[in-house]
Amino acid sequence: MKSVYLDNAATTKLDKKILKTMQPYFKEFYGNPSSVHIKGQETKKAIENARKIIADSMNVKPEEIYFTSGGTESNNWAVKGLFFQNFPKKNHLIISKIEHDCILNAAKWIETKGGKVTYLDVNSEGFINLDQLKKSITEKTFLVSIMQANNEIGTIQNLEEIGKICKEKNVLFHTDAAQSYTKIPLDAKKMNLNLITINSHKIYGPKGVGALFIKEGTKIEALIHGGGHERNLRSGTENVYGIVGFGKAVELSKKIDYKKISKLRDKLLEEILKNLSETKLNGPKGEKRLPNNVNIIFKNCEGEALGAYLENKGIYVSTGSACMSNTNAQSHVLKAIKIPGKDQDSSIRFTLGKETTEKEIQYVLKILPEIVEKMRRINGLK
Ligand SMILES: Cc1ncc(COP(=O)(O)O)c(C=O)c1O
Repeated sequence: MKSVYLDNAATTKLDKKILKTMQPYFKEFYGNPSSVHIKGQETKKAIENARKIIADSMNVKPEEIYFTSGGTESNNWAVKGLFFQNFPKKNHLIISKIEHDCILNAAKWIETKGGKVTYLDVNSEGFINLDQLKKSITEKTFLVSIMQANNEIGTIQNLEEIGKICKEKNVLFHTDAAQSYTKIPLDAKKMNLNLITINSHKIYGPKGVGALFIKEGTKIEALIHGGGHERNLRSGTENVYGIVGFGKAVELSKKIDYKKISKLRDKLLEEILKNLSETKLNGPKGEKRLPNNVNIIFKNCEGEALGAYLENKGIYVSTGSACMSNTNAQSHVLKAIKIPGKDQDSSIRFTLGKETTEKEIQYVLKILPEIVEKMRRINGLK
């Protein structure tokens, strides 16, 4: 059976070249990077090489990159680490209503510890309102955290403008770039970013590794206390093979043709909207949308069932966000952009990858109408 993987926002397939780069660090280069002997220095060098590649990719210094276990950890660290650093003098956090659950739930948690959180509204395409942001900042605000691009509907926020506001108001600015990293430009200086969350498994690297950029001079609580790794802020023997793979993933990302991917994205979304009645795009079109994201409402089709029918034909997609699809909760993102409840349940996310081909998109475009029409017939709605 054909296999068409269109869930690259959930995770990507490990690239063979990346695996090959990692392999020696499982066996041959096994030293502890903290050891002063040659065995340790070999692995230390590999980590520092990855740190440099990652730092260069966002125009920062290698000493400003801290390795973590992934996006969830980096986001938790940014929110909680800065909260505890600043509390009680400052206790106010600003985020948007469409942040990833790991920001939303970290925010909810600090509310139980004396924190105050402003949840910024978004418009029907998922963009925050810059005036609302400006007005929400007070002398108690310790952080503004706005994701660069949304994992469900692909909306890309204007980080340069947000950064200007934060600089003017002298407030720290963090972005969760887990979905956008290496797909669209990211420049900590241009965007006035103090902290950036990134991870490896969305860009064909290994799972369980990520990083947090923390601008030099930013005061933040240590995340894990121990032997003083990662400049005393995140202790624990490093995930050497993961970090090596992450560095290689960033290096190889320069070769990915996102223009080509966005052309395929447009073909998929335009043909669906044109050929299938009662369909609607969630999120913006064009440049302000992640190059690989399509999210569509198929009215009068239950999303979970549609996903299962597609899987039956070898097509892997997601309903809402994969990270929460096991909780059966409705999508807070679709709710925030004011999609009616019934249409939220009828939404499907397709996320393309570097290996997605025109032929695969043609296959989906052939199969999809057959399934949708059949489902609507069964429902007696057509
Ligand atoms: C926007 C966003 N932030 C954070 C995460 C969490 O990253 P990780 O899976 O590395 O913990 C994800 C993963 O789905 C994501 O899409």
